[in-house]
Amino acid sequence: MAKAIVMRVPGGPEVLKVESVEVGDPGLGQVRLRQTAVGVNFHDIYVRTGLYQTLPLPGIPGLEAVGVVEAVGPQVAQVKVGDRVGCLTLTYGGYAEGRLVDADLLFKLPDSIDDRTAAATLLRGLTAQMLVHHTHRIVPGLKVLVHAAAGGVGRLVAQWAHHLGAMVIGTAGSEDKARIAGENGCDHVIQYRSENFVEHVQAITGGRGVDVAYDAVGKDTFMGSMTCLARLGHMVNYGQASGPVEPIAMSLLFQKSNSVTRPNLFHYLADRPRREEMAASLFDALSKGIVTPGAIHDYPFADVGRAQSDMEARKTAGAVILSV
Ligand SMILES: NC(=O)c1ccc[n+]([C@@H]2O[C@H](COP(=O)([O-])OP(=O)(O)OC[C@H]3O[C@@H](n4cnc5c(N)ncnc54)[C@H](OP(=O)(O)O)[C@@H]3O)[C@@H](O)[C@H]2O)c1
Repeated sequence: MAKAIVMRVPGGPEVLKVESVEVGDPGLGQVRLRQTAVGVNFHDIYVRTGLYQTLPLPGIPGLEAVGVVEAVGPQVAQVKVGDRVGCLTLTYGGYAEGRLVDADLLFKLPDSIDDRTAAATLLRGLTAQMLVHHTHRIVPGLKVLVHAAAGGVGRLVAQWAHHLGAMVIGTAGSEDKARIAGENGCDHVIQYRSENFVEHVQAITGGRGVDVAYDAVGKDTFMGSMTCLARLGHMVNYGQASGPVEPIAMSLLFQKSNSVTRPNLFHYLADRPRREEMAASLFDALSKGIVTPGAIHDYPFADVGRAQSDMEARKTAGAVILSV
């Protein structure tokens, strides 16, 4: 048996309840994990509120966790008992003390990356890697807009794009967050709750606009981000923290020969060679300090509701995890 956070209906943070669940022994190709830290991601809020109806209920939410392999089933060659691993599962189940997972889904963690850092950066860091190396390859001299640049993913994108030689314009929701964004890769920071980010981007770029806009805020910023694009600029809408984006007319793209993508990390990870390349690239960037999670918001396991509420209320700046 293990403690897990179970959700029976969509709703507010109160629907997340600690229960005891059966774990059992690993089957073919599976391992049993004893988890030490769990990543709390904005996706988990979309699931809890019912915006995404992707978790069969009742179910255990959570895409990301870190732990130790406690037992291995038949035909598991990738890991052995005692290995420290990170685990990303689109089929959820991350919010638990212990569980069974397919060995194929595990990332062996280098000794240089502790469990808390791994839980804070595995999903967010792989997302940042996808965004700056695959979705739009950042090269020196590009002008880049990163929304919520003090946030979990935004901070890593700003750091990485800056390291790759881009000029980074970040947005942030408060003075404190603007300071954090300025210390983490942003050459310019716009406080987009009190300042018009479109006007500022036009002024900073001399009216040219940006080559790429990384926008996971969604509803509130999408059209403004489109306006910020230069000719041939690329809109990367990778999330919807403020709500889903309204449909757009194709003719909007024709005005400046723009393109739009809506990437999903798990589609990029589905291909094994690419997944291994992305993980190696992230671990290298973490070990060299190219990306850093900074201060991690660490909550006790049973306080998952408060962790999600704080994220939702924009109180957090950076990664959120649960210590198990
Ligand atoms: N496509 C993918 O595969 C993928 C993978 C991972 C994450 N994501 C997306 O990346 C984004 C960041 O994820 P995260 O877990 O690291 O979260 P996060 O950035 O720590 O939190 C979201 C941030 O969005 C900003 N925001 C703007 N409007 C908001 C609103 N109305 N309500 C709440 N927040 C608002 C806030 O920053 P300010 O206060 O500075 O505005 C907030 O801190 C999410 O949209 C998530 O869905 C996508």
